Amino acid sequence: MEYPDPKRKSNFVGKILMAATLTALCIIMLKQSPNFNTRSRFSEHEEGLIHVLVTGGAGYIGSHAALRLLKESYRVTIVDNLSRGNMGAVKVLQKLFPEPGQLQFVYADLGDLKAVNKIFSENAFDAVMHFAAVAYVGESTLDPLKYYHNITSNTLVILESMAAHDVKTLIYSSTCATYGEPEKMPITEETPQASCKLGFMLNHFAIFLFQSIHMEKLRRWQRISSWITQRTQTRQ
Ligand SMILES: NC(=O)c1ccc[n+]([C@@H]2O[C@H](COP(=O)([O-])OP(=O)(O)OC[C@H]3O[C@@H](n4cnc5c(N)ncnc54)[C@H](O)[C@@H]3O)[C@@H](O)[C@H]2O)c1
Repeated sequence: MEYPDPKRKSNFVGKILMAATLTALCIIMLKQSPNFNTRSRFSEHEEGLIHVLVTGGAGYIGSHAALRLLKESYRVTIVDNLSRGNMGAVKVLQKLFPEPGQLQFVYADLGDLKAVNKIFSENAFDAVMHFAAVAYVGESTLDPLKYYHNITSNTLVILESMAAHDVKTLIYSSTCATYGEPEKMPITEETPQASCKLGFMLNHFAIFLFQSIHMEKLRRWQRISSWITQRTQTRQ
């Protein structure tokens, strides 16, 4: 006949107690971490507080816009895929605004419909400032479809998610190329806007046409808009 070894039994109970203590400790630590506490704050509308989704907030314009918003006491969620931006800029913002519910960073690509929808379902946004884009003129002429894809179809993902979650305010950053070839540098607030704006506006207007036109027509659109850009630039 076999008898249970009381030493083995107490070892077993000791291990269970140890595991339970460690689990409890982990839960307490998780609850105290800033991410745990802020998640719920971002998911609820708060009286008198405007929550802005800043896409491309790790980039040049987006990070400055986020800084200004945070200084003005807005709640900010930055979404960026870090393809161009700089996580260092986000870290500076996180250091400056460490309070729970002020700023959160979400790593995501706007081309990922599922991820974008998840972001909108988990957060209560009041407005979107859309800076996620690719913005190099030279590169855009070498690889126009990459640009159309990121600027047009990815923006539609944002617009559709906004519509689905009843977010009605969008600030869309169009282009910095509104000065043509300025006669005097640096460009200031007084520098006159140049007529080449039309070509770039047409390029950006393609966003509203993207869903209904075929790729081949898209290439034609690119040629037409760069032709208009050239003409308006040479006329100056
Ligand atoms: N730089 C300027 O002087 C200026 C002036 C006026 C308007 N703009 C416009 O502002 C926008 C941003 O310009 P920028 O100079 O800040 O560029 P940037 O490259 O510094 O920033 C763009 C950010 O968007 C992110 N991004 C790009 N594609 C993404 C995607 N699919 N999903 C998630 N994140 C993505 C990049 O990682 C980057 O952090 C552009 O539309 C540009 O035309 C720029």
